[in-house]
Amino acid sequence: MHIYAVTSSNLTTEAVFIFEDTQSNIDAIQKAQEKGLFKAKNASSYFVLSNGKAYIAIGLGKKDKLNISTIRKAIGALYTQLKSLNIDSFSIDSTLLGDHHSRLFVESFLNTAYVFDQLKSEKETFKLKQIDITTYAIEETKHDIKIAQAIANGQNYAKDLKNLPANICTTDYLLNEAKKLTDAHNKCSLHYIGEDQMLKLSMGCITAVGQGSKMPTYIACMEYYGGNKDDKPIVLVGKGLVFDTGGICLKPWQGMGSMKMDMGGAASVFGTMKTITELNLPINVIGVVALVENSIDGKSYRPGDVLTSMKGITIEIGNTDAEGRLALCDALTYIERYNPKVVIDIATLTGAMIVSLGGDLTGLFGNNDALVNDLKIASQESYDPAWHLPLYEPYHEHLKSDVADMNNIGGAAAGSITAALFLSRFTENYTWAHLDVAGSAMKGFEKATATGRPVPLLTQYIINQTK
Ligand code: BES
Ligand code: MG
Ligand code: ZN
Repeated sequence: MHIYAVTSSNLTTEAVFIFEDTQSNIDAIQKAQEKGLFKAKNASSYFVLSNGKAYIAIGLGKKDKLNISTIRKAIGALYTQLKSLNIDSFSIDSTLLGDHHSRLFVESFLNTAYVFDQLKSEKETFKLKQIDITTYAIEETKHDIKIAQAIANGQNYAKDLKNLPANICTTDYLLNEAKKLTDAHNKCSLHYIGEDQMLKLSMGCITAVGQGSKMPTYIACMEYYGGNKDDKPIVLVGKGLVFDTGGICLKPWQGMGSMKMDMGGAASVFGTMKTITELNLPINVIGVVALVENSIDGKSYRPGDVLTSMKGITIEIGNTDAEGRLALCDALTYIERYNPKVVIDIATLTGAMIVSLGGDLTGLFGNNDALVNDLKIASQESYDPAWHLPLYEPYHEHLKSDVADMNNIGGAAAGSITAALFLSRFTENYTWAHLDVAGSAMKGFEKATATGRPVPLLTQYIINQTK
């Protein structure tokens, strides 16, 4: 699909966004408003032909009620109209999108247009060809379009990886994705380790999680050096559980299929690496993914086992379903070798996240106020909502073990906080933030759909660091 910034467009279809409480300056639409045929309620639509042009009017609802969700709903309604009318090209006036909102429009639109039909015999036939965004600020809009396309590409790539089931999207499959991604860019290369190397490095935790699976376990590091060679890198670490059965502490079957998306954190690292390489950003970023399956077998790790992490901390297993933190803790120790400027881990870590913050908000934790603040700003700027939660020190108490240095679970209360506190014991040597995306990386649970989040937040944070 081509998206252009133009001063005027020859396309014969125009999309028009209108508030409930304003009148369109296009006659035919204004008439429809007067007659009550089109009330411009949020996400309502009206199609009209006038003077040789087709107009698709989309309601935004009341002006003072406008928010990110009403805008996205309106964009969804526009896409539905285009598809049902089989219109593959249209123009839109950027002034209707508000200041600097070309980027939000393009990003949301490309996300809406996403389809996952790789595994269907019958493919989606409707494909958009061209969007002209009419504007006076050509250069600015071109820039917005470029960033929006790169982010949406990264996000849609993350969705593909999440949607692919674990029999296809294996740890080897994802390792190969890391190869392809790094091969495609001259400033990017791949370094990875397998189980033999992990055992040599005393990674007793990530290897224990993988030992009940037929799939090999990997930590893959996509090294992008777009900045000065000696600038310390930003290190992203993604939880890449290609499937999480819960292990011996088996999950209930309802919704278990969604656990093919327990690599959502890793998928967002892949997506972000794709976006920043596409934008060729002048910065150093290491995208690390911990690729492993939590399965059941005679070889599986069990409750009561005591594992020794690469850091030397011993961990009693209270629940084999709290495996993400085990995979991450060794990866978070391993990446000290990059001498990171900051480390951000991204993980579908706790179901408790959905209980506390619901399906939209990413839980944001961190051991450094400046980093947390930067991530909050990036979250707002990229319309990718996150909420700051505390690393409340007294709750370390919950992670106590009688036989080891700590337990891998902290009991029913404050599950997302105790999970973050668990990780914090491994991140004391650097500036660190943790994004729990159990709710935001997938929408719904029993029949989850992939969101591609938090690629926008991560990319925005990285872009801001180049300024
Ligand atoms: N992958 C899950 C967390 C999850 C749940 C993500 C639902 C997305 C949707 C994680 O590995 C897990 O099972 N966590 C346990 C931890 C508990 C045993 C302390 C949980 O949340 O129940
Ligand atoms: Mg390369
Ligand atoms: Zn689990």
